[in-house]
Amino acid sequence: MTIIGNLKMNKTNTQVKDYIMKLLPRYEMGRHEVVLCLPYTALSTAKFLLDGSDIKLGAQNLCDDEVGKNTGEISGEMLHDCGVEYVIVGHSERRAKYKDNAKAINKKIKIALKNRLKVIFCVGESLAEKNLLKTFETLKAQIEDGLKGLYENELENIVIAYEPIWAIGSGKTPLAKEIDASIKSIRKVIENDFSLKAAQKIEVLYGGSVDNKNCSSIAKLGQVNGLLIGGACLDAINFSQLIKDVKV
Ligand code: 13P
Repeated sequence: MTIIGNLKMNKTNTQVKDYIMKLLPRYEMGRHEVVLCLPYTALSTAKFLLDGSDIKLGAQNLCDDEVGKNTGEISGEMLHDCGVEYVIVGHSERRAKYKDNAKAINKKIKIALKNRLKVIFCVGESLAEKNLLKTFETLKAQIEDGLKGLYENELENIVIAYEPIWAIGSGKTPLAKEIDASIKSIRKVIENDFSLKAAQKIEVLYGGSVDNKNCSSIAKLGQVNGLLIGGACLDAINFSQLIKDVKV
């Protein structure tokens, strides 16, 4: 299982230090692929503190350009140089608030891969799209736009995170059969655009109101290869318990 904590815009560098010092003694190596997606300002500190553990370092965004005149942005090369191994692209908060459109997301994915970063590619429908029964259509468009121009072998470095927008931070989750059906539809797009082998191989995570109570049942769903966690990763002790509770 892959278990990713997205801390979003929470915790200063000092607070991340404290967080990792609480997490590490409660963390058992080798059971899962665990990734912490931290604010940029804490990446170097975290890299130093995580040395010797198998917890991977992730970032939450990167620039859609490679170098130069992009004041305030952070490049894929900079992230790789900091020891970052994963980067989130296409999170719904960035699509909505920071205007990350389909073209920018596709560029970010390509730049991340070029810089040897694994991409956590987020897709998901809004409540309006769900109510209009447009979930599968939305997912298909997001995946095809995001992965446009990629070679099949590049999918090895992409993890898809299915995060229904209405489930994020709401305490609501889709029914188990809805999660499975949505992820199946994601695999179908990969099968049509790449191959059956690629569709079976690609890791698909679920994210959106995963907590200490529902994590193990969601993780056990047939289509789910891992979890992307927001609120429930903010407390190191809670998060370490959640990682222990996921048994598959
Ligand atoms: P919550 O777990 O707080 O719903 O957030 C999910 C998320 O957006 C992770 O990227």
